[in-house]
Amino acid sequence: MKRKVSIIGAGNVGSTLCLYIAQQELSEIVLIDINRNIAEGKALDIKQAGAILGFNTPITTGDDYSLIEGSDVVVVTAGFPRQPGMDRLDLLHKNRDIIDIAGNNIKKYAPNSKVIVVTNPVDVMTYRMWQTTGFPSNRVMGQAGILDTGRMIMFLADEIKVSPKDIDGLVLGGHGDTMVPIFELTRIKGIQVNKFLDNIKLSDIEKKTQNGGGQIVNLLKTSAYYAPAAATYIMVRAILNDEKRLIAASCKPDGEYGLKDVYIGLPVIIGSNGIEKIISVELSNDDLIKLKESAKIYQSSIAEL
Ligand code: APR
Repeated sequence: MKRKVSIIGAGNVGSTLCLYIAQQELSEIVLIDINRNIAEGKALDIKQAGAILGFNTPITTGDDYSLIEGSDVVVVTAGFPRQPGMDRLDLLHKNRDIIDIAGNNIKKYAPNSKVIVVTNPVDVMTYRMWQTTGFPSNRVMGQAGILDTGRMIMFLADEIKVSPKDIDGLVLGGHGDTMVPIFELTRIKGIQVNKFLDNIKLSDIEKKTQNGGGQIVNLLKTSAYYAPAAATYIMVRAILNDEKRLIAASCKPDGEYGLKDVYIGLPVIIGSNGIEKIISVELSNDDLIKLKESAKIYQSSIAEL
C-alpha cells in the first residue's frame, strides 16, 4: 500500500475514521495523539478486528509528528468536542492552539499533503489551518457539508418514508445553527422535495438538521462520531482515488456567492488536487441571504482568533 493517510487525534472521530479506512484497506494509516497510549490502544483494537473480519491495513501510532512524513492526506480531528449546552463556537480558543500545533507540524513534515480539518468550529479552524500551513486553499478543506447533508437526508427519509439512498441534496453555509439546507436543490429520485412535504414540514426538517449535532451531544454528553467520521472518509477517498465527487465542503471562496476571506460550506469538486473547483449555482434570494449571513458569523469569529 503506497498511499498514506495520517490522522491527528485518535479520539472518537479519529479512531472511527481509522476503522473505516482500515476496513476498506484504502491506505496505510498513521494515527497520532498527544496521548500516545490512546492511539496505540485504538490501533491494536482495530487491527484485532481486522484479524477477525479479514482486513490487514498497516497502522502506525505515536505522539511524534514526524511519523506523518510523506502523507498524501492529513486529517485533523485533535481538539475538544462539545458538551451539553455548548455551541461549536465556544471551542474557538481552546481548539485554535491545537490547530496551530498540528498546522506547523503538517507544514514541516507533510508539505505536499491535502489537509482535511474536522475539529470544531470547523469553518474557523480550517481558515486557521490554511493560515498556519500557508498551503494554497485548494489543499486545505473542512469536513461538514457531507455530514450536514447526511443528517438532512436522514430526517427527510424518516419523514417521507422513503429510502435515504433515493434522496440527493446539499446543505451549505457554516457548520452550526446557521447552516442552510437548500431544498430547491433537494430531489427524491429526481422529484422535487416540495412535492412530498409542505413548507411547514420543510422548515421543521431545516431546524432538525441544524440541531442534528446538538441532539446527539445532549444524548451522549459528547459530540457525534460515526457520521462525522463517515463524512470524512468520503472526502479522503475522493482525494486518494481522484473521484471528482461533487459534495459540500468548507472551502475558501474567491468571490463565488459574493464571498471572500472566509471558509464556508459550498458545493465543490474533490479529487486528487483537493478542492478542484467551487461550483456556483443560482440560489434563491432567501437562501443566498442566509448563506451570506452564515458567512458573516464565521468572518467575525476569524477576527476573534
Ligand atoms: N495533538 C494530537 N492530539 C491531540 C492534541 C494535540 N495537540 N490535543 C488533543 N488531542 C487529542 C486528544 O488526546 C483526544 O484523544 O484529540 C483527541 C480528541 O478526541 P475526542 O475528545 O474523543 O473528541 P472527538 O469526539 O474525536 O472530536 C474531535 O472533532 O467533530 C469534532 O467537535 C469535535 O472538535 C472536536 C473534534
